[in-house]
Amino acid sequence: MEKYPGKKNTAVFISGKGSNLKSLIKYSKKKKSLIKIILVISNNPDAEGLKYASRSKIKIYRINNKSNFENKSLKLLKKYNTDLICLAGFMKILSGNFIKQFSKPILNIHPSLLPKYKGLNTHERAIKNKDRFAGASIHKVTEKLDSGKVILQKKVKILKTDDVRSLKKKVLKIEHEIYPKAINKFLTNL
Ligand code: GRF
Repeated sequence: MEKYPGKKNTAVFISGKGSNLKSLIKYSKKKKSLIKIILVISNNPDAEGLKYASRSKIKIYRINNKSNFENKSLKLLKKYNTDLICLAGFMKILSGNFIKQFSKPILNIHPSLLPKYKGLNTHERAIKNKDRFAGASIHKVTEKLDSGKVILQKKVKILKTDDVRSLKKKVLKIEHEIYPKAINKFLTNL
């Protein structure tokens, strides 16, 4: 993707609460932001996070039909000249074919210090293993789940008093802080 001065047309994919979408919308409105969110796609028609997109008058598409989610999304991404996809609390695994067809960068936020704890239940595993730290990572999306190049990550201490709920809350705060920073870092080092 060639470097050009304009903000990158960005699509955000969500499935649930959308707290990361909320923080990306806030970032995108900043003068110095490098992205313009032009599209939000959810594979869950009832995703709470969709309210953030509608409040900011961002185009929303609910695609809950599993079988043609990818084809429909690819058509929309093309229609809106999308330069970048940010997965934000998106709980569907994208196929290698989708990644190839889109052919531009896809970033994801994962609630662990990758490469530790790929997949689900990251906080449960960190606590069970008595890890001293947890954290969040922004990485490039590839065919292999949670295995793309890590762009930015930040850790947080796990206290003896922490349980999954408190740790999830602490890590979510970090996610909101580092996703915009990771986008900046990624787009300025293209
Ligand atoms: C976050 O922990 C994110 O890392 C994971 O889904 C959780 C919810 O994210 N993928 P959000 O509030 O929907 O942005």
